[in-house]
Amino acid sequence: MNGAADLLSRYLRQRVELGETELVFEGQPLRSLKEAASVSVAPTPSRTTDRTTHRPIAAAGTRPSGVEPPPLVALGSLGELGRIASVCTACELAETRNHVVFGEGSAQADLVVVGEAPGADEDRSGRPFVGRAGKLLDQLLAAIGFPRESVYICNVLKCRPPRNRNPSPDEVASCSPFLQRQLALLQPKAILACGTFSAQTLLESSEPIGRLRGVVHAFEGIPLVPTYHPAALLRNPGWIRPVWEDLQRLRTLLDAE
Ligand code: URA
Repeated sequence: MNGAADLLSRYLRQRVELGETELVFEGQPLRSLKEAASVSVAPTPSRTTDRTTHRPIAAAGTRPSGVEPPPLVALGSLGELGRIASVCTACELAETRNHVVFGEGSAQADLVVVGEAPGADEDRSGRPFVGRAGKLLDQLLAAIGFPRESVYICNVLKCRPPRNRNPSPDEVASCSPFLQRQLALLQPKAILACGTFSAQTLLESSEPIGRLRGVVHAFEGIPLVPTYHPAALLRNPGWIRPVWEDLQRLRTLLDAE
């Protein structure tokens, strides 16, 4: 087990052993907390797509000529949106990606988790949060009673930035319409924004995550809880407590829905 996951596990076990109830969520049986505590952790030269509509400006090569996709706001299902994303060439990341990582999970999910961008594992598999940070995310979600399959998980960027560099403002601007449409279609009861880019993008803020977290915000009327990114948590196990507090805040607000 790695440092942060181990710490989380020990933290939860300690709570159980101490008989503390303050970290146990209402309606969440103690057994789940015990189970959670024992889980192991395992040159793009020219723009080819109009940024606002994601329509190809030049023939993308994958579509029959003359057939244009509708603007994203007109798309009525995640499936249709995902198909458009899978051939998107709106930014340079299309040149280097192996897979577009659109997102996955239940279309009826109460909770949507929004991360930053796919990493190497996600680019290889086409699935969000499947690497080390993803394993930790799964554990954290399970600890508050949300198994991975009960939530919807996606990222701000749908394609991996080379060498996991930070997304550029241009890439965020190009890709955000997909996230916005995803959230409009999903209409979750709450959003968990993991990390600086996710929280800043959804809240249209330039505040650091350390200042954004700690309170419930809203995105288009949907309660939004910002927290540290699980990858950052792996590097800074000391953040487990604030993350845990954020997750409790999330659980409490979902319980009240
Ligand atoms: N980090 C993210 O922000 N998203 C992923 O899908 C994987 C790692």
